[in-house]
Amino acid sequence: MTKSFFGIVGLGVMGSNLALNVLDRGHSLSVYNRGGEGEAHLLPTFMESVGSAHKVSGFDDLKEFIASLERPKKVLLMIKAGPAVDAVIQSLMLLLEEGDIIIDGGNSLYTDTVRREEYCKNKGVHFVGMGVSGGAEGARRGPSIMVGGSTQSYESIGALLESIAAKDKFKGSCCAHVGIGGAGHFVKMIHNGIEYAEMQLIAEVYDLLKMEYTYEEIADILEEWQGGELSSFLLGCSVDILRHRTGDSFTLDLILDKAGNKGTGGWSSKAALDLGIAAPMMSAAVFARYQSSLKSERISLAQQVTQFANSDSLSLSDLKEAYKASRIINHHQGFAVIKAASDTYDWNINLSELARIWTNGCILRSELTADLVELFKTNDSILATGSYVDEVDSTVDQLVEVISHGMNNRIPLPCFQAAQSSWYSATTERLPANMIQAQRDYFGSHTYRRVDKAESEVYHTEWKK
Ligand code: 6PG
Repeated sequence: MTKSFFGIVGLGVMGSNLALNVLDRGHSLSVYNRGGEGEAHLLPTFMESVGSAHKVSGFDDLKEFIASLERPKKVLLMIKAGPAVDAVIQSLMLLLEEGDIIIDGGNSLYTDTVRREEYCKNKGVHFVGMGVSGGAEGARRGPSIMVGGSTQSYESIGALLESIAAKDKFKGSCCAHVGIGGAGHFVKMIHNGIEYAEMQLIAEVYDLLKMEYTYEEIADILEEWQGGELSSFLLGCSVDILRHRTGDSFTLDLILDKAGNKGTGGWSSKAALDLGIAAPMMSAAVFARYQSSLKSERISLAQQVTQFANSDSLSLSDLKEAYKASRIINHHQGFAVIKAASDTYDWNINLSELARIWTNGCILRSELTADLVELFKTNDSILATGSYVDEVDSTVDQLVEVISHGMNNRIPLPCFQAAQSSWYSATTERLPANMIQAQRDYFGSHTYRRVDKAESEVYHTEWKK
């Protein structure tokens, strides 16, 4: 039997769609899914869905699956992030040899990836953490692929991965080796952190508009935005969602208002905290999801507090500008976390290249990510060029108007507010942090630095006379 070039473990939604994509690109493939535990149907269903023209071999025996691969054996795991990944790695390590490559294409925590790479290295096996974005449709037609791990492994797997990824507007592949070690999973995690805030901003826009407009009208307004510089995959999805009906009802009205999450937004916020980078928009979006899930508590408290609404109408042009400014701030914060991680871990991430592979295939794809490709060629921060600073500065009044409209109408706007306050903090020369420093010194002798002395010198005051 001729051996397959590539192997995929896990034929769930993402795994099976990626497998079909790999086959469409003409690569020979072996697939594996364990039998039993409600998964027995996955392998036969997948094998039936594959046309006879494709070179695929299916297995429910791991040993036979590994034996079917040519060397170096390249095995992509498309399984649930967490302990299952460690369990499969352990089984694979009994079967793989020096030089073989395991690729984890799930949303794994990047610190787990670093640990797994170390573990595999002991046996000379390469371990690659790889971020894949674009959902089921992306996996099938072309996702954005963010690859970590060693340069040597990329030499073996890069061509295949580039062939299955989405294409940018110059027909370049939206797949890149973003950096060694955990870099691939780190950038995918922050992609999701930015995604959480992008989604929350659209949810807040919808909340503001639904006081005055029908769902059809809101869809028309967002569709008009979608035609210009605000165009994004997520905005397009939201237009479709607003128009969707189930029977006589708008489907949106039938959906319980408790937002779920699989952890990447929280991890992103935690990474920002660990790196000492302010990314309050993504954490506001995570906390907004957490608060939404307290449904019964919300219902009970809603009956105890005053509910009010002011009849003022909201300016659509203010809302559009506020949304534009907040998206810039959100992307700035996400990329700042990536830059800090790249510096800290010596990943040497090319931000322009990262923005480029986020121009298609992924959930974050937008006109804005396309603009950032050029910006990051010569700058390492969105705020390093005057143009985005001017853009936010010239619309910040409208952001404030929108927030004030929301507050006057009792509409929570955690992400818009995080955008506005963090923008003021980022652009204020003298913050009240002198008071924080004085308090720290007062109760804990933590010392402070002085504005009139060298910053290397520290001072302490006996505050109580
Ligand atoms: C993507 C998505 C994808 C998935 C997340 C959403 O880039 O394709 O981000 O990874 O939709 O799992 O995460 P939550 O379930 O936490 O919203």
